[in-house]
Amino acid sequence: MTTRQLFLVTCIIFLYFDITSSSHADEFESVFADISDATLSEDGKLNFSQLATKYGHSADQYNLTTEDGYILTLFNLPGNGPSVLLFHGIDDTSDTFIIRGNTSLAITSANAGYNVWVGNSRGNKYGRRHVNLNPDTDKEEFWNFSFHEIGYYDLAATIDFIRNKTGEDSIATIGHSQGTTVHYVLASTRPEYNERIKVTISLAPIAFLSNLAPPVSLVADVGPAISLLLKSLGMEEILQDHKALSNIITLICSKGLISYALCGFGALFPFSGIDPSNIEPEFLRTIFGHYPAATSRKSLAHLNQLYLRKRFSQYDYGTIKNLAKYGSIAPPDYDLSAITAKMALVAGKNDQLSKVKDVEHLRDKLPNVVHYEVLKPKLWSHLDFVWAKTVPEYLYPTIFNILKKHV
Ligand SMILES: *[C@@H]1O[C@H](CO)[C@@H](O)[C@H](O)[C@H]1NC(C)=O
Ligand SMILES: *[C@@H]1O[C@H](CO)[C@@H](O)[C@H](O)[C@H]1NC(C)=O
Ligand SMILES: *[C@@H]1O[C@H](CO)[C@@H](O)[C@H](O)[C@H]1NC(C)=O
Ligand SMILES: *[C@@H]1O[C@H](CO)[C@@H](O)[C@H](O)[C@H]1NC(C)=O
Ligand SMILES: *[C@@H]1O[C@H](CO)[C@@H](O)[C@H](O)[C@H]1NC(C)=O
Repeated sequence: MTTRQLFLVTCIIFLYFDITSSSHADEFESVFADISDATLSEDGKLNFSQLATKYGHSADQYNLTTEDGYILTLFNLPGNGPSVLLFHGIDDTSDTFIIRGNTSLAITSANAGYNVWVGNSRGNKYGRRHVNLNPDTDKEEFWNFSFHEIGYYDLAATIDFIRNKTGEDSIATIGHSQGTTVHYVLASTRPEYNERIKVTISLAPIAFLSNLAPPVSLVADVGPAISLLLKSLGMEEILQDHKALSNIITLICSKGLISYALCGFGALFPFSGIDPSNIEPEFLRTIFGHYPAATSRKSLAHLNQLYLRKRFSQYDYGTIKNLAKYGSIAPPDYDLSAITAKMALVAGKNDQLSKVKDVEHLRDKLPNVVHYEVLKPKLWSHLDFVWAKTVPEYLYPTIFNILKKHV
């Protein structure tokens, strides 16, 4: 390992523990409590409904309950046009689609007249509820999920809720990152949902992770060890919304370009590529009011398996449990050939998670790809799809052309 690689791995392990260790967070909380107001921007402190109001729309809020008992918040910016559902990625929330305000996807689509729905997955701050499980005391059961359950249950319940509410047979959906994975899970394991989707626009699609490169692959290589360690420490909820930690990151990361670069390499951007002209240092003061937002250890472990096994398959519980659960030694692959709904795939040249080669592979496996595109900018990366300053110029023409054509 080179020094730089070692530094990165150390930073990431450090980050894991800081974020997951709530006793530390409590200490930080008292020390850094006052910094929060100073470091976060106004939009960093507003929640989804407040941001919607600020940018000219009133958000309706619904609680929906999944078949397996999780209670999720779904937001709606009502419009007279057809429904479009936006679904976020891992460790993220509905907020990701609105924190750019007037140029965010939620506000822009609402301004264009669409009936905009913004979903949340189990485990994040809008989905940390269950009809009878307590996320803090029933850890092993509550946090026993990955993108599989989010697709199979959460996305299914969200789509059905909207169909039921609006009377539409089918709706358009847009996913970002793991918010695309959950679509492939749902449409392949519950084929009847293909008819309930007009078109899915996948931004930074994630199904195959075979082509990850350093530093992401380095972290993924030690992922199983980290996961085991967390499990042995009883940490099933990870990367949660700890205000204190966000404060520290914000404080360190928004002090000019040098600190931005440091944070870029140490915290957020090794996973996504770095381009200060698209996600400017000042905007971090908004981002870290909303991100990270908690997920399960199992979620990361499952994604990690996609890389290590070089297949898009269900969770690998180990030989014996696999036999009991799946009737086979290896977990079954998701049957992408069963996905008959229209799929549009949009990738970025500098995306370190959704690598163009892996997206090409996905495109070749999906039977009904209606649009495939690698965006023009050379530095376009994973988080630019939701957070970049230049989305109106480089991404929205693609999105709205697809919607016009297929919705
Ligand atoms: C957003 O904040 C307002 C004001 O504090 C509060 O009334 C509302 O319930 C919050 N909404 C959500 C979804 O948390
Ligand atoms: C959703 O649930 C929250 C918390 O349980 C509750 O405060 C809120 O009133 C509910 N909202 C609706 C629209 O039912
Ligand atoms: C957002 O756009 C609307 C309409 O163009 C404008 O009236 C408003 O001032 C903008 N809001 C902010 C906070 O920039
Ligand atoms: C977690 O879920 C899997 C698959 O549904 C199940 O086999 C397992 O028993 C569950 N574990 C716990 C602790 O609930
Ligand atoms: C659909 O809406 C009706 C009436 O509001 C409700 O009774 C029913 O439970 C809903 N079904 C689903 C699947 O949400």
